[in-house]
Amino acid sequence: MDTLSVELGPRSYPIVIGAQLLARGDEIAARIPARDVLVVTNTTIAALYSPALQSALAGRRVVEVVLPDGEVHKTLANVARILDVLVANRFGRDACVVALGGGVVGDMAGFAAACYQRGIAFVQVPTTLLAQVDSSVGGKTGVNHAAGKNLIGAFHQPTAVIADTATLDTLPDRELRAGLAEVVKYGLICDHAFFEWLERESDALLARDPAALAHAIRRSCELKAAIVARDEREQGERAWLNFGHTFGHAIEAATHYSAWLHGEAVAAGMRIAADMSRACGWLRAADVQRIERLLSRLQLPLDVRAIPAADALELMRMDKKVAAGRIRLVLLERIGAARVTADYPDEALRATLAAHFG
Ligand code: NAD
Ligand code: GLY
Repeated sequence: MDTLSVELGPRSYPIVIGAQLLARGDEIAARIPARDVLVVTNTTIAALYSPALQSALAGRRVVEVVLPDGEVHKTLANVARILDVLVANRFGRDACVVALGGGVVGDMAGFAAACYQRGIAFVQVPTTLLAQVDSSVGGKTGVNHAAGKNLIGAFHQPTAVIADTATLDTLPDRELRAGLAEVVKYGLICDHAFFEWLERESDALLARDPAALAHAIRRSCELKAAIVARDEREQGERAWLNFGHTFGHAIEAATHYSAWLHGEAVAAGMRIAADMSRACGWLRAADVQRIERLLSRLQLPLDVRAIPAADALELMRMDKKVAAGRIRLVLLERIGAARVTADYPDEALRATLAAHFG
């Protein structure tokens, strides 16, 4: 078992990573001190992991909300449903919300915890690779709006993240690959050596080699924890974590959150962002190809020609990084070094969109 820390002064919290943490139960019991616990999960995960979580919480008052499964259900209506259950059960400020699931459950449970009585404790128990390497860490919570992805939300840090790597045994391969896209992101934005390690270990990761997965999760969490500790509210470098996301969110929204998984859209978005970095004269063409090679080896979809370029641009204008009406982009100076900029030639963006979208 590994324990890292997200250093945020009085709001610091541990990220505990290990196999069988749910089955053993002791770590869960110790990290959730509340008497009243609201478990938020979905129909798929409840069937797999609720019993173990309930056993770990024996002796507490535990109420469970089981939401429908899928990104299309990441809505204010479902957050309202969670809040209704908290109210109906008269949970107080000393209660704790536990998010058992992937990023969709985690983002909604965290947002409900942020809103209820102006903020109560919550603990993340991430069960997808994507959630274990990214969404459970850092306190971004929220839901989608019809006009765009994650438009409504709040920063609300969990009090602990407990990542049981054994839950990945039941994760479908496609979901595992989507999580690997966010792992690649860390190498691209801030750790060239990690990118090289991913190039070497891509087959082991796809084959779910436990040591390779454990290293990928630990290194991703270390890198994210360090960025969040330096820039919790995304005033600067935290925006690097959105590398590929401005294009990716447009891909997800254009396809109504149903055709592309979030991580897949991020993968395609990172390829486009890498090409845009080349069009700006930053990244070498050989490095763009190297990035495409790794993403393809990880069997991530990169073809977005079915989406019209004009639709993508319109959706990108809803991005939260838009400032003074201009889309700010996260681009690469080189593999391992990102920069946020609004200072790019409009022609380069137009040509890049035209080259990739339909
Ligand atoms: P997800 O939550 O939809 O989970 C993917 C699928 O896997 C779902 O069908 C889920 O039921 C299933 N599943 C989960 N765990 C399983 C397991 N152990 N075994 C079998 N099936 C399992 O998707 P995700 O990729 O985890 O998260 C994507 C979401 O995370 C997006 O909404 C994205 O915007 C958000 N996100 C948030 C942040 C953040 O910082 N808050 C960062 C990245 C992504
Ligand atoms: N996944 C983006 C962030 O946490 O800032």
